[in-house]
Amino acid sequence: MTIYDKIERTLQQLGVSDARGVESLFAELQKTAEQERAELVSRGAPDQPQRDRLCKALRDRWLARKGGVLSRVDENWLKPAGKELKPVVGRQFNDLRRWTASLEFEKLAEALPLQEAPVKQVELPLTTGAGRAVPRDLTLPGLRRPLGSVHPVTRMQREIEDIFLRLGFWIESGPEIESTYYNFDALNIPESHPSRDDWDTFYIDAKTVLRTHTSPVQIRAMEKYGAPLYIIIPGKCYRHDNPDATHYPMFHQIEGLAIDKDITFADLKGTLDFFAKMLFGEKVRTRFQPSFFPFTEPSGEVAVSCFVCDGQGCRVCKESGWIELMGCGMVHPQVLRYGGIDPDKYSGWAFGLGVDRFAMVKHDINDIQLFFQGDVRFLEQF
Ligand code: FA5
Repeated sequence: MTIYDKIERTLQQLGVSDARGVESLFAELQKTAEQERAELVSRGAPDQPQRDRLCKALRDRWLARKGGVLSRVDENWLKPAGKELKPVVGRQFNDLRRWTASLEFEKLAEALPLQEAPVKQVELPLTTGAGRAVPRDLTLPGLRRPLGSVHPVTRMQREIEDIFLRLGFWIESGPEIESTYYNFDALNIPESHPSRDDWDTFYIDAKTVLRTHTSPVQIRAMEKYGAPLYIIIPGKCYRHDNPDATHYPMFHQIEGLAIDKDITFADLKGTLDFFAKMLFGEKVRTRFQPSFFPFTEPSGEVAVSCFVCDGQGCRVCKESGWIELMGCGMVHPQVLRYGGIDPDKYSGWAFGLGVDRFAMVKHDINDIQLFFQGDVRFLEQF
């Protein structure tokens, strides 16, 4: 029989007829109250409302005027007690009342610990900046951690990728630590070319560099997949350039490569014109001017009419009406051979653009360095 069963019976029904029997019953009650309180404290509660509810339930179970343990003891043990036992039951009852009051059920709600969340939260710092311990105040509101956003260069990269993915290109990648063979030789860049100078290129050893462009992945992809091939290659590149408003030693390029039967310069022009219109708006026009890259022949530079002033001249296009977009050209037959593709059967075009410079134009940012300084005041604008 539990103590809760016992308080529903009279002492007589329980067969208690002497002081020792009464004292042991009250001792059992006291122990139960103590246990219930300790159990609640060690279990804690998941949150504040739950904590209030559990504490109130414990308090009511013992002290409620109607149906509380003390009122049941009063009703069933004290009132019906015979003359001999009444003084001892009365004394014990008063002691129990005082004692349960000292347990301070009402105040328990403030002291009760909140349980750890089931998924472990990031530990809040418990020291001040000076390293002094600060008390863990469970009533303080939680720390709000600001949400980040996609970096403007990454966003630009994804925008460009999306256009080419719609055209049926897929995304390929390659190593940032690259051999001189793929970075230069297989791209028809001779030993004597100035870009191979260690003033321009970060050398790890005589045969290994930090890639200076994404073009080496052209060769790797040709070797891996053969022809036909329609890919774009986004990624980081590195050059020994001093940081200034338009240069950074680490920057991002996207390479485009299309190889198939009967690919001509007209395909290149059509694709890049479509790309420019998708990115900058239907109204823009593209301009192709001759240029030189050892790995394309013929080679060109592509510009787009300024999408801000419509070619009239403004701050964004530096009053020229045109914005330089990228280098491009028909893949050099020798490069196709390096990639294991027969130039008599296949031809192709390629381009390479600077993603950071695109993002600068798009958002009218006048200094590339802002992208990489990690200043939240700058980044949170995107
Ligand atoms: C190349 O790197 C060629 N591989 C592009 C290419 C590919 C041409 C395929 C033909 C066919 P270029 O050195 O011009 O080309 O670099 C391309 C773009 O990278 C530049 O237009 C510029 O936007 C960007 N770029 C180059 N150096 C830096 C730098 N230090 N900081 C920021 N952007 C840079």
